[in-house]
Amino acid sequence: MNILHASSEVFPYSKTGGLADATAALARAQAAAGHTVTLVTPLYRGIREKLDDIGPSGIELQVPLGQAKLQAKVWRLEQEPNLTVLFIDQPELFDRESLYGQDDDAERFIFFSKCVSRLTKPEHLDLEIVHAHDWQSGLVMPLLGCERVGKVFTIHNAAYQGRFTADKFDLTGLPKAYFDWRQLEFHGEVNFLKGGIVFADLVTTVSPRYARELFTQQYGCGLEGVFQARGDTLAGVLNGVDYTEWNTTNNPHLSAAYCADSLDGKSANKQTLQQEIGLPACDTVPLFGNISRFTEQKGIDILIDALEERLGDEAAFQFAGLGMGDRFLERAMSSLAKRHPKQIAMKIGYDKGLAHRIEAGSDFYVMPSRFEPCGLNQLYSLRYGSVPIVHATGGLDDSVIDLGQGQDTATGIKFGDCSAEALGQALGRALALYAKPKNLAKVRDNGMRADFSWRQTTAEYGRLYAKII
Ligand code: ADP
Ligand code: GLC
Repeated sequence: MNILHASSEVFPYSKTGGLADATAALARAQAAAGHTVTLVTPLYRGIREKLDDIGPSGIELQVPLGQAKLQAKVWRLEQEPNLTVLFIDQPELFDRESLYGQDDDAERFIFFSKCVSRLTKPEHLDLEIVHAHDWQSGLVMPLLGCERVGKVFTIHNAAYQGRFTADKFDLTGLPKAYFDWRQLEFHGEVNFLKGGIVFADLVTTVSPRYARELFTQQYGCGLEGVFQARGDTLAGVLNGVDYTEWNTTNNPHLSAAYCADSLDGKSANKQTLQQEIGLPACDTVPLFGNISRFTEQKGIDILIDALEERLGDEAAFQFAGLGMGDRFLERAMSSLAKRHPKQIAMKIGYDKGLAHRIEAGSDFYVMPSRFEPCGLNQLYSLRYGSVPIVHATGGLDDSVIDLGQGQDTATGIKFGDCSAEALGQALGRALALYAKPKNLAKVRDNGMRADFSWRQTTAEYGRLYAKII
């Protein structure tokens, strides 16, 4: 099949979270399965300079945006067999320090979506599927009009909707009639995510449980009615892991290699992590890890309370954290670390290498997310032998098997109520497991051998695509 993906972030070119990992890996897996894949993404600051093989594609786009007509140059990178990445170069809009959170985000992503829809024209590409991701590419769906392609839209997180004041609607160039509660209008504003949901032939999200959750008021973020209207054309497909990037046997970020058959290197990684992050080196104390965007979603406040509750005995446990975002949460976590330097270490910032080392050096990986469409870190932690402790929601519930299911199958620890108390109890269960090395070894081994590669996910998307073309 000829497939085009549109995403506002793609690893390794740009990344703020799992969207970048997921779109990059899905495209690679589809290309490896024999499909012809084009990935379209903005050319942010610094990307071109890092890529030796990037070159002009020969395509220049002229795109109206309100009264203005903006030009975009399209750069091409043949990333690997069957996979081409096209970068939209519009310096005024994309040559910025950060990816989002700017005053003109509406203009930036209307423009991006218009460029994508232009590229789907037969003079540029011959396509069967156009697959757009999240609100930043949501408008691609209505902009395609009645083009003869299968339109697929994936929601990676319904909490981010791209809602803007009504006046921005004119910039889209879409028929005025689309500014209606059945289409792009939402409480008087224009909602890009809603546009994607309504106009796609098929809507997917990144885990089966989150697909069910989206129908509810608790998780639908106001769009539950729109999701309900999609009925069974909303499918949940669990993300996978790119094991060429996230592995413990051939990984430049780790100090020692290890795998399920030979675990010796795991403790060397624990030592390296303790040294790097400033915790006392000790192989026998259980070490919990966490890597997060600091937002309400990730339950960092709950984590802080649960850790605080259990602090005191230095031999009981250590915690290594990495993250950034909400200033209040950053300060609260840093203050906890300052008050308990022998047990809690926190690095505020973004650090790709340290993210791998926390996964490899921890004994347990804690993920108390209030909601989690899929979650990738718990999947990485399974392969890295860091037993996940997760709130039973979304993809966390779909990908971890609780200790209560018995040691033959268990891969982690789940808790049902998203509170500091319930997380505290789950941490207690983890400490009890740690005290029984044989049992811990079995649970860890089950997780390390679990296969979350993109192969199944790609096959599932193939079946779904076939239904709509
Ligand atoms: P989300 O996309 O909601 O942030 P995921 O679990 O799907 O959550 O993916 C998060 C991705 O971002 C993972 O690859 C994780 O390692 C990475 N990440 C998040 N915060 C940081 C950070 N501060 N430094 C390095 N990597 C980070
Ligand atoms: C979003 C979600 C996360 C998911 C990621 C990739 O950022 O918050 O749960 O894993 O997208 O699909």
